[in-house]
Amino acid sequence: MTQPGAPVPDLAVTLAGLRLEHPVLNASGTFDALETARHYGPEALAPFPFSAYVPKTVTLERRDGNPPPRLTETAAGMINAVGLQNPGIEAYLDDLPLLAFVPVPVLVNIGGRRPGDYLEVLRRVEERLAAGAAGSPQVAGYELNVSCPNVGRGGLAVGTEPGETEKLTAAARALTKRLLIVKLTPNVTDVVAVARAAAEAGADALSLVNTVRALVLDPQTLTPFLGNRTGGLSGPAIKPVALRMVWEVAGALDAPIIGMGGIACGRDVLEFVACGATAVAVGAANFSGPDAPRRIVAELRAELVGRGLPDLAAVRGRALV
Ligand SMILES: Cc1cc2nc3c(=O)[nH]c(=O)nc-3n(C[C@H](O)[C@H](O)[C@H](O)COP(=O)(O)O)c2cc1C
Repeated sequence: MTQPGAPVPDLAVTLAGLRLEHPVLNASGTFDALETARHYGPEALAPFPFSAYVPKTVTLERRDGNPPPRLTETAAGMINAVGLQNPGIEAYLDDLPLLAFVPVPVLVNIGGRRPGDYLEVLRRVEERLAAGAAGSPQVAGYELNVSCPNVGRGGLAVGTEPGETEKLTAAARALTKRLLIVKLTPNVTDVVAVARAAAEAGADALSLVNTVRALVLDPQTLTPFLGNRTGGLSGPAIKPVALRMVWEVAGALDAPIIGMGGIACGRDVLEFVACGATAVAVGAANFSGPDAPRRIVAELRAELVGRGLPDLAAVRGRALV
């Protein structure tokens, strides 16, 4: 509770030049603005709960995703193998004007089976935006998902190889002046090597982390439960892994970081910021309902008030001792 007359902490952050009202974005694939408006009514999005909107990954071709089951709860988390189901870039671009009501910057998350696919998707988005499609949302930049564990070798292969990550990032950099974010996987031995490759090739910021490769068995048959057999673990179970990776990368590089992995409350946000993150993204927690991000932002504000901190800069990087 803020005491009457106590200064209200400033939650605004600047991510590689992009001013955000607060540090909480949605993690791609875990929150759909259109579906939320349809299901819960427009009041669920007024005010918009995230400071930037990252839609589900889009790929060059339409993808039907993996066979079911695709998702299940685990202790302190969930495991999914959706498999980047999406309508493909052309249908995505046709629907883009539907997002014009989103009052915050949009970051287009791109996936692909091979590096050329990412570049072609990015090129088509730039082309459509340059044509000045009426009623387009404010597309501020891109998040390259080089880290999905559920699409065969594809994207994850790029994100586990510093050399491949560097080549793809440099080629994407040449295609856009907008914000370029590379989303990294925790499924590597040395996350700093991949992060450095992306940063040196021109990424403006890094997202850490995508899901952790994992396996869940059907208790009756004792065989893999998910249709894809393996999946990606997310939620509170992975928070310590994500924190460690953000901390390592922030300790080694200057690139701004969007931290994610198990964020479920305001204190979790503060921990990621203390490890060096500039902004954060909320993923699995969205499955508890559309109120999660607003509650998390309110709790973050209360954390700062309780600690007598004026803003997030006062705590950023505190764990990097
Ligand atoms: C059901 C589900 C679908 C996801 N789909 C995507 C996706 O399309 N693109 C992507 O970059 N990440 C995707 N992710 C990963 C999340 O964006 C996030 O990196 C990860 O879940 C860790 O955050 P969390 O622990 O808060 O969920 C997905 C995660 C979940 C749980």
